Amino acid sequence: MRAPIGPQAPGGPGSLVLGRYSLCERLGAGGFGVVWRARDELLGREVALKRISLPDGGSERASREALAAARLAHPAIVALYEACAASDAFYLISELVRGETLARLIATHDLDDARVLGIGIALVDALAHAHARGVIHRDVKPQNVLVPYESHGATPAPRGSPAVAKLTDFGGARLAGDDVLTRTGDVLGTLAYMAPEQSDGGEVGEAADLYSLALILYEAFSGVNPVRGPTPAATARRIGRPLQPLERSRGDLPPSLTCALDRALAPCPDDRGRSLSCAPPSPTRSRRPPKPRVGLPPRRHRREDSAPWV
Ligand SMILES: Nc1ncnc2c1ncn2[C@@H]1O[C@H](COP(=O)(O)OP(=O)(O)O)[C@@H](O)[C@H]1O
Ligand SMILES: [Mg+2]
Repeated sequence: MRAPIGPQAPGGPGSLVLGRYSLCERLGAGGFGVVWRARDELLGREVALKRISLPDGGSERASREALAAARLAHPAIVALYEACAASDAFYLISELVRGETLARLIATHDLDDARVLGIGIALVDALAHAHARGVIHRDVKPQNVLVPYESHGATPAPRGSPAVAKLTDFGGARLAGDDVLTRTGDVLGTLAYMAPEQSDGGEVGEAADLYSLALILYEAFSGVNPVRGPTPAATARRIGRPLQPLERSRGDLPPSLTCALDRALAPCPDDRGRSLSCAPPSPTRSRRPPKPRVGLPPRRHRREDSAPWV
């Protein structure tokens, strides 16, 4: 991380940030940062530049995001290039993803089952990678999943090819070994995708991330997030209640898939099952996704980053 440097005007398109990045276009904003497509004039490439204002309490979140992202290197996780603290803001410079958020693709019904399955497999792999490095994301939701344009309309890519989805925004992450950031009671994340133990302010582990991912996939397959209510209070009341099994609305999907997702949405983390390894789907354009391979492969064949499922 660079040492703090002089003030940098946030500016608009065309302005130079940190003496090196020309702002091109505002890409989006979440609760904490504003993200720009920018040009790195030193290296001659385009990047994503996230500006997190320090007065808004962004300091802890920004450094948490930087430290978490720096531990990770995976095709389905947005790569962090640089983190820099300026006097007025914290900047994160990352790989630019040309695409859409999964939230937008769900909202526009622009997904078929094969793509949802491909995205799910990519995210399971991404979380396995993060968890193996002591990083719990804690804010897995469609707004934090970017789907690159190259994969649009295509069948899910096999492992080893460019990712069909990229997880971003580790600002709420919990890092193993960091006392300050692992304390319980700090409820972070987004209500409609939050595991019950997380909304209670309890211990949040890998099972909470997998619950959130299962809820994303449930929504992508069915078109409905069963937890989301008309108001935040209504949503909060639904957290932890049994959900209508996905199998009821999508009985045409393979039972092994719907069962795995339904089990992963159990209110108690201990009831969410062990893991399920999804085989990469075979190329097909059918609405029905290929049947995933259910059950744990023999231990000796498990890669660290193989897809432990929900
Ligand atoms: N690397 C990236 N490439 C392209 N767009 C991005 C990138 N990172 C973030 N975005 C866009 O900016 C939005 C907000 O980014 P995010 O990191 O989630 O900010 P926040 O911490 O405020 O939630 C995303 O939903 C997405 O639309
Ligand atoms: Mg976000």
